[in-house]
Amino acid sequence: MSKKPLNIGLIGYGFMGRTHTNAYKRVNDFFDVAYRPVLKAVCGRNAEAARAFADNWGYESVETDWRKVIERKDIDAVDICAPNNAHAEIAIAAAKAGKMVLCEKPLSMNLVDGQAMVDAVEAAGVPNTVWYNYRRVPAVTLAKQLIDEGRLGRIFHYRANFLQDWTISAELPQGGAGLWRLDAAAAGSGVTGDLLAHCIDTALWLNGAIASVSAMTETFIKERKHTVTGKVEPVGIDDACSFLCRFENGSLGLFESTRYARGHKALYTFEINGEKASIKWDLHDLHRLQYFDYRDDSIIRGWHSVHVTDGDQPYMKHWWVPGLQIGYEHTFVHQVADFLENLAAGKPTAPTFREALATQAVCDAVLDSAELGRWESVVPL
Ligand SMILES: NC(=O)c1ccc[n+]([C@@H]2O[C@H](COP(=O)([O-])OP(=O)(O)OC[C@H]3O[C@@H](n4cnc5c(N)ncnc54)[C@H](O)[C@@H]3O)[C@@H](O)[C@H]2O)c1
Repeated sequence: MSKKPLNIGLIGYGFMGRTHTNAYKRVNDFFDVAYRPVLKAVCGRNAEAARAFADNWGYESVETDWRKVIERKDIDAVDICAPNNAHAEIAIAAAKAGKMVLCEKPLSMNLVDGQAMVDAVEAAGVPNTVWYNYRRVPAVTLAKQLIDEGRLGRIFHYRANFLQDWTISAELPQGGAGLWRLDAAAAGSGVTGDLLAHCIDTALWLNGAIASVSAMTETFIKERKHTVTGKVEPVGIDDACSFLCRFENGSLGLFESTRYARGHKALYTFEINGEKASIKWDLHDLHRLQYFDYRDDSIIRGWHSVHVTDGDQPYMKHWWVPGLQIGYEHTFVHQVADFLENLAAGKPTAPTFREALATQAVCDAVLDSAELGRWESVVPL
């Protein structure tokens, strides 16, 4: 089948720039979709580094100002892989220019910016999506399927953690390349927007809306040298955040995220307990879904470790043979595949900007609750 080209303009060529580019390159090898991504332009402020990235990955051209990418007639879709403080301005300008917009998470620095982004893509009528890629881990997609089939019955509890340990040293500076996550001006928040946003997106998808939250945050290292200014400056991000919540379906939630859990690099886990069954998942073992069903015969009742690699499990028929697993990078391939398939069918690709705004509303309520020391309702603008 001859495929329609879809010209990509990538903004930012760091960690996510690589995962997305890999996905654009691989998608047509494994998924039969009507579009073919073309690596048209990559944008970075350092021309030499951007050129090196373009040469390595196969981009046709380089820009050093994202506005140039948006002005170009030969760009169909703008993919935002720059830090959080760049998302709103780029996305709104891209939408106004009639470009499709794929934006990294979190959607925005805060709910107000996020709402403006939603308004822009909806006013322009351009396809849009946010890269909450964990939805597309086959085991996580399978969890969604099991819940939607009613296998868990009424849900009582939702528990999620995202634990890291890479910022424990007080010598680590804030700001600049790689360390913008520690700088509130670039990141908006700390672990709440960076890590809990993933947990919240998955939770809203699997268990529905969150009604209210009660949170606490802590900044363990109060001052760090700023890479850009060279001065020791106050740290404005949350190093750790824990919150309780009530979901609209009546279930209770417990979420924890920190970059101070010595021994954990990226321990994203969730567990859901229902009346009839429970499920749990762990990013370090991402191809497995743990499933317990109370309806099993009591003499064999126990946790099943489901190896999600078979052709009848989500996404897996596109990959290898049953029993052989895939990994982290494939979640991005899946998102591109879904985006291209939906584009051909004229359908939105979840999470859209509007859906991702719901996560932003929870993040804002969590940060407000921690600051004010009280329960906060989750209210969209
Ligand atoms: N989906 C996920 O699991 C996931 C994982 C990591 C990061 N992210 C998100 O992806 C985004 C980027 O994170 P990263 O880890 O790739 O960061 P990174 O620091 O590795 O890369 C950021 C890139 O943006 C470029 N950049 C910064 N400002 C720019 C500007 N004004 N114009 C053009 N380029 C600019 C930098 O030069 C760099 O190439 C963030 O929003 C982050 O939250 C998502």
